[in-house]
Amino acid sequence: MILAGGTGSRLHPLTRITNKHLLPIYDRPMVTYAVEAMVGAGVNEIMVVTGGTHAGEFFRLLGNGEEYGIERLLYAYQERPGGIAEALGLTERFVRGDKVLVMLADNIVERSLRPMVEAFAAQDRGARIVLSPVADPAHLRHLGVPELDEEGRLTRILEKPEDPPSQFAVTGLYFYDGDVFDVVSRLTPSGRGELEITDVNNWYVDQGTMELDVLEGFWGDAGESIDAYYQVNDFVRAHGANHRETSPR
Ligand code: DAU
Repeated sequence: MILAGGTGSRLHPLTRITNKHLLPIYDRPMVTYAVEAMVGAGVNEIMVVTGGTHAGEFFRLLGNGEEYGIERLLYAYQERPGGIAEALGLTERFVRGDKVLVMLADNIVERSLRPMVEAFAAQDRGARIVLSPVADPAHLRHLGVPELDEEGRLTRILEKPEDPPSQFAVTGLYFYDGDVFDVVSRLTPSGRGELEITDVNNWYVDQGTMELDVLEGFWGDAGESIDAYYQVNDFVRAHGANHRETSPR
């Protein structure tokens, strides 16, 4: 599932005239990097969830998916930006009890997702999150941050914490087993009125079935701020993205 809805308010006024995930990252629209990341990792059945007023442009861009190596491409429309977990809930009929990889379409990665996809394929049940080292606490205050015990085991995830408990960000890459839709259906909206993906993740942490990976290479959230958007653009222009095995740097 590629999540490309939301209001993009942090990139206003650019996102008044288009969907954030259609804005350019170097030489092509942002959402195509998520598509390439998934297909490059062997995931070729994709549902794109979008919303707002520019949904038709995704059809124009991605069409039926062949050009991108997608075998089966479906679209879903989120009526209002009710949260990442709400958008995930829209894919239930498509996923039909299978395992699912969720990628936020404003996340850009340097390296292939294949090792994580393979690790999750080998995982019996539960979920998997992907961390990226982030040193700056001011940056971490805008993200999900894991709390880790002395052995490096995950004890909790905090969403946008005032006082970040570690130097890792939870990236917008999430792997779930078929139980996730039951978890989503039991969620209640957070203070900001959204169904939070961090609540879903903490359910798996509580069950003891959440695994984690630490991403190698660059990771960026191009939707975080206008500066982050340009940092991601600069990186991709200089080094590219979604490299197969080793970094060309
Ligand atoms: O990028 C990583 C971060 O993404 C994580 O560290 C956080 O734990 C996670 O909550 C998320 O934080 P953001 O503040 O970036 O979430 P945001 O509300 O910006 O939404 C992320 C993407 O999901 C964005 O590309 C738009 C899309 N979205 C969002 C909402 C709320 C939807 O498609 N529908 C929605 O209802």
